[in-house]
Amino acid sequence: MQAMTPPEESPKKEVHRLRRELQRHEYLYYVLDQPQISDQEFDAKMRRLRALEAQHPDLVEPDSPTQRVGGQPREGFVKHRHSSPLRSLDNAYSEDDLLAFDRRVREGLGAERVHYVVELKLDGLSTVARYRKGKFYLGLTRGDGEYGEDVTENLRTIRSLPLETQSRREKMPEEFEVRGEVVMPRAAFEILNRERERAGLSLFANPRNAAAGSLRVLDSRITASRRLEFFAYYLLAGGQPMLPRQSLTLEHLRRLGFKVNPDWKVCHGAGEALQYIQNWEPRREQLKFEIDGAVLKLDEVEAQRKLGYTNKFPRWAIAYKYAARQAETELLDIEVQVGRTGALTPVAVLKPVAVGGVMVARASLHNQDEIERLGLRIGDWVKIERSGDVIPQVLETVPDKRPQNAREFQMPRECPVCHSKVHREPGEVVWRCVNADCPAKLKESLLHFARRGVMDIDGLGPALVDQLVEQLGVRAIADIYDLTLDQLKSLEHMGEKSADNLLKQIAASRERGLDRVILSLGIRHVGERTARLLAERFGSMDALMHAGEEPLQAIEEIGPKIASSIQEFFSEKANRELIARLKKAGLQMQSKQPPRPQEQPLAGLTFVLTGTLPQWTREQAAAAIEAAGGRVTSAVSKKTRYVVAGQDPGSKLEKARQLGVAIIDEAELKRLLFTSPA
Ligand code: IVH
Repeated sequence: MQAMTPPEESPKKEVHRLRRELQRHEYLYYVLDQPQISDQEFDAKMRRLRALEAQHPDLVEPDSPTQRVGGQPREGFVKHRHSSPLRSLDNAYSEDDLLAFDRRVREGLGAERVHYVVELKLDGLSTVARYRKGKFYLGLTRGDGEYGEDVTENLRTIRSLPLETQSRREKMPEEFEVRGEVVMPRAAFEILNRERERAGLSLFANPRNAAAGSLRVLDSRITASRRLEFFAYYLLAGGQPMLPRQSLTLEHLRRLGFKVNPDWKVCHGAGEALQYIQNWEPRREQLKFEIDGAVLKLDEVEAQRKLGYTNKFPRWAIAYKYAARQAETELLDIEVQVGRTGALTPVAVLKPVAVGGVMVARASLHNQDEIERLGLRIGDWVKIERSGDVIPQVLETVPDKRPQNAREFQMPRECPVCHSKVHREPGEVVWRCVNADCPAKLKESLLHFARRGVMDIDGLGPALVDQLVEQLGVRAIADIYDLTLDQLKSLEHMGEKSADNLLKQIAASRERGLDRVILSLGIRHVGERTARLLAERFGSMDALMHAGEEPLQAIEEIGPKIASSIQEFFSEKANRELIARLKKAGLQMQSKQPPRPQEQPLAGLTFVLTGTLPQWTREQAAAAIEAAGGRVTSAVSKKTRYVVAGQDPGSKLEKARQLGVAIIDEAELKRLLFTSPA
């Protein structure tokens, strides 16, 4: 552990020391998976650095670890030309394909045998990170291979991407670029989808789509919350490989501090390569990431140059694709399910088929637009894919196999459960049942409420929920707190002991913290993490219910969409009544911990507002400052930390200048607000 900070250390020195330390610990944790300090110690250092940077904005630099949090959303992506085209690889699907490739390579080089580097083919997005003087300055997507989109701010949030390279003793050119793959680990993907399910959002089909949906976003705060990883496999200077061999490249990248997938090997000849590739196939499920094959590359760059490129692919590399977990089967029917938010979701009912060793009988169809996009008819043959633990997806129809009696599917115009009308908001793809008391909605809400990780009411599963609604007349979530032993005992399959148990479970749910109660409400877009943030920042249900949009949005990670969804939820009378009843039933409506002041980025800072700000009204700015722990006063004094000046500022600006108080604009204020600890 670091010794106590010597008292004479200047803020500048301390900032630099903390940055160095944090960079090293990020590397140990995110790249090597070998942390040397606890998360708490790490967080404490990060908080100290944030506080120092908030007090000395002039010391903030883009490669500071504090800058990984993500900033304000941007308008669109700027395009940049790649230093040399990002090509894709030709595919080999069999041993024969691979041996044919090897023959072509050897013929082209006039060599008996060649060395290949075999790497795993990570299933993500190819991405470019450019460095100048060892510092990361530009991130690009693959784009069309010729031009990529600027995702610098988003890439910056990926902790395994070094913002500054290591071992500067080794001579590196002033400018170089690293190419690699941005992937989402399986575990992160599952957590994300679980969160999205709880928040009533559509699910990502696979980690690759989730990674794409997290990297190609205009709001880098979204990327920051998504636990992506960057794996490096290519090092270029001036658009050309920097080192003479691919194997040296991978080793060098690791020394520079990049995360390199350790599962690669120099293979002498195609036979050895094939063996390595085939060895990996059955073990691929054990990896933390999804792979869709292996990549075979000639090790010698000189030999690569000799062979060159076809108009699409390098002649010196090939991707060996593992058999996809796909299958073809018949679409027997399309069922429509009604979710908690009333959303009608079509589900494919399939003739059961084995996909990658698992029997599949149902697949998600998302919504009507998706069915139209696929051109799907009941009776069609469809190609389905299973990836990870997600619900299988329908990829496409097989037109040649369409039977004559295949029939078109129409989304019902009424709710299949309560027969009320269904409605689709303009611009939305989802149809929803309009009936607030639809039993399907209630059942799903109850299931969500009782789920593990929410209110943890063990035993309250689908069958029991059906009984509660249909036989005991449960009409609202809060009704479960009025259930009696006699009522429960009267249900089929329910003995006295299980009835008693269930009552105990329900009683125990009164102890769940405020964050769980917020989560249990099933507010759209509010998942576990957001619920926790809301509980921490507002401290009580009351404060949350009456928070305006600005204080909500002042919380990092909460954008306009979540904020308005929260407000919309609390503006419904039925929802306010539900909360009142839950409160009466004894649920926790106060946070056990007071709001954490150290997590408030502006704690202890006093602001004065003057002039017209470009986006916010003064009330909005003041609310945002206060929600972040700051204070707003009307007169400038020596105690004022910042004067936020807009157009046509008054005499306050002059006063600030006289007293030497820092003057900032709205953009700078927002930066301060959103650089709060994660
Ligand atoms: S080498 C010309 N190495 O696969 C060299 N690609 O179809 C091209 N990929 O777009 C890339 N893992 O997104 C290379 N170890 C690896 C890779 C890899 C995944 C992806 C990459 C590329 C695609 C090629």
